Amino acid sequence: MKQIKGLKVTEMIHHAHIAGTGSSMPERILYNKDLESIVDTSDEWIVRRSGIRERRISSTERDESTTDLSTRASTKALEMAGVSAEELDMIVVGTVTSDRQFPSTACMVQEALDARNGVAFDVSAGCSGFLYALNVVNNAIQCGTSRTALVVGVDRLSSVINWQDRGTCVLLADGAGAVVVSSSPNEGGILSTHLKTDGRLWKLLYSSDGNAYTPDILQGLAKIPFHLKMSGSRLFKKAIECLSSISRDALKHNSLSSDEIDLVVPHQANIRIIQALANNLHIPMDKVYTNIHKYGNTSSATIPIALDEANREGRLNKGDHVLLMTFGAGLTWGASILKWSI
Ligand code: ACO
Repeated sequence: MKQIKGLKVTEMIHHAHIAGTGSSMPERILYNKDLESIVDTSDEWIVRRSGIRERRISSTERDESTTDLSTRASTKALEMAGVSAEELDMIVVGTVTSDRQFPSTACMVQEALDARNGVAFDVSAGCSGFLYALNVVNNAIQCGTSRTALVVGVDRLSSVINWQDRGTCVLLADGAGAVVVSSSPNEGGILSTHLKTDGRLWKLLYSSDGNAYTPDILQGLAKIPFHLKMSGSRLFKKAIECLSSISRDALKHNSLSSDEIDLVVPHQANIRIIQALANNLHIPMDKVYTNIHKYGNTSSATIPIALDEANREGRLNKGDHVLLMTFGAGLTWGASILKWSI
């Protein structure tokens, strides 16, 4: 029960807690050396400019579709949380590479998990899809419309990359991560989420054609190239500027200093972006979780994969303050602060 300005509020206050994490990576590893035979690049350039050494590339022939990867990550998160699929009243998937234009990946994951109850839908927010989806679930839990939800971040950017474009094909890759979020009367869990969008900058990162956008519907009968286009160096600067600012907002909102953050789990787009953010926020790199060297940029999946690995490696303890930072196409970006409760 909570006292607000003399009023006795009898309704339960609901807090959204992450109760389980999971991830699933494709089996095939593509090393920087392999890329040297595809485009004019070098292992040395990729490592120095991005921090990436290898990445995973999926194949539907190996049952590594967007739905397959999501389902495997979700199963692990459900096992950790001790929650059955039937208990899920909401499934929200952040992705821009759904297996089909419709239905949503969330519907197909619902079927694969045999999760018969609740609603399922996707959220499209570029690489920020996971944090946007987590915020939808947090709001639903706080309102009391959800008690147990699944949030997935998944992408197979290998399917939309132009493999002749060395500015993008060396950076982007595939993977999935998931969290189970449960309602609890106990304080903690997701303390805040700050999200922003600036649609004026969408041309810095977009897919050319594909989906319903065709110049002429009859020409659409021919195969349309579906390629990702990116202005790398402009995004680089924007990511540092936007994420420094929104992370400061998040810290201030929670009356926390950067010293009180135990672990930062940032979007893994470029190690130099991550280092610049740590520097700007006065957080030492040993408090920043990175796995970009082995997975590259898996878009919406980077944060839940990193969160799962950090959790399973024992990098997260009950009561820790965790700062999540995301940035992607849209432009979209955001920061969330969690009080870890597993
Ligand atoms: N191998 C070798 N040379 C390359 C490669 C490559 N793979 N790619 C680009 N180059 C060349 C360029 O052509 C350029 O050559 P030039 O000087 O002769 O013109 C030179 O390297 C420098 O290019 P820059 O783009 O200035 O290099 P930069 O240091 O900015 O690094 C990078 C490029 C890695 C793309 C960087 O800008 C970056 O990471 N940007 C942010 C990406 C990002 O955050 N994406 C947004 C998030 S959205 C999402 O996550 C999907």
